[in-house]
Amino acid sequence: MKHFFSISDVDNLQGIVAEAIDLKKNIAQFSELGKGKTIGLIFFNSSLRTRLSTQKAALNFGMSVIVMNVGSDGWKLEMEDGAIMNGDAAEHIKDAARVMGAYCDIIAVRSFAELKNRDKDYAEDVLKSFMKYAGVPVINLESSTLHPLQSLADLITIEEYKKVKRPKVVLTWAPHPKALPQAVPNSFAQWMKNADVDFVIACPKGYELAPEFMEGVALTHNQDEAFEGADFIYAKNWSSYQMYGQIVSTDLAWTVSAEKMALTNNAKFMHCLPVRRNVVVTDEVLDADYSIIIPEAKNRVTSAQVVLKRILTAMQ
Ligand code: CP
Repeated sequence: MKHFFSISDVDNLQGIVAEAIDLKKNIAQFSELGKGKTIGLIFFNSSLRTRLSTQKAALNFGMSVIVMNVGSDGWKLEMEDGAIMNGDAAEHIKDAARVMGAYCDIIAVRSFAELKNRDKDYAEDVLKSFMKYAGVPVINLESSTLHPLQSLADLITIEEYKKVKRPKVVLTWAPHPKALPQAVPNSFAQWMKNADVDFVIACPKGYELAPEFMEGVALTHNQDEAFEGADFIYAKNWSSYQMYGQIVSTDLAWTVSAEKMALTNNAKFMHCLPVRRNVVVTDEVLDADYSIIIPEAKNRVTSAQVVLKRILTAMQ
C-alpha cells in the first residue's frame, strides 16, 4: 500500500478485515515494525478519536509521532497552482507538504469540507496536494468527501458483532443543529457496497448522497421501513449534496429512539462519534446493551494499525 486515501487503495476488503482482526490479537509481534520511522499527524480540523487512535497505532509499531494542528498553529496555506500570493496565505501547500515529507516517513492529514463550493470540496485538493508533493505515503484522516479509516473500523466492528453471514445494515440520516460534511456517509456507503451485507440508506428527501455513492444502493425515505429486520443501525447526520451544504430538514421524527430500535432484528446501534445526545439519538439507545459505539471507536486503533502495517511493510 502506497497511500490510504480511499477504498480504492485496498485490494481485498475481506482480506484487510481479517488481517486487522488478527493483528489486534498479535500486535506485540510487530512492536519494532516502525522503529526509526516518524509519522506526522496533520490536522486542519478538530479531532478526538482520529488523533488518539492513529497516534496509539503508530506507537504500537514503535514509531515516533509528530502532531501539528496546522489549522490553528500553522501558516495559512495557498492551494492554487500559480497563485500570486499577495493575500492571506503565507505558504504554498507544495512547499509545506514537501517540508513535512522531509521530516516524516508517513504523513496523515485531516481536512474537512468547507461546504461552500461543492466542486472544490469534491476535488479533494488538500489530500491530493499532499499525495502529489509530500514524497511519502499519505493517510486520509477524513478529507472533504471521505473518512476511510472510520469506514474500515466500522466494517471490522460489523464483522465482529454480526450474527448472520450477510447482515442487513442501515445507514440512517438523523437530525443535527449544524451542517455537517458528507464524508462519513459517503465513505460508509462505499465500503458497505463492497462488503457482504444488505445495505440500505434511509434519509429524508433532499439528503441523497452524490450519485457515485448512491449507485447500486437501496434507498428509502421511510426510516421505519428501513429499520424492519435490520441487524445494524448506523446513524449519522449529513448536509445536503443537492442543495450543497444546506440543512433541508430538522425533523426530530428521524432521531433514533428505543421505539425505532424495537422495529429491528435486535440490531446493534453504531455511530462514529462525536454524537449530539437526544438530537441524533436518545440517551436510552446510546447507553443500551445493544449500542456498540465504544467497541466501534476502539476499532479506530485497529483500522489505523492494519493500514500502517501495510504501508510500513511496503516501505521495507
Ligand atoms: N469519528 C471520528 O473521526 O472522531 P474524531 O472527529 O473525534 O476524530
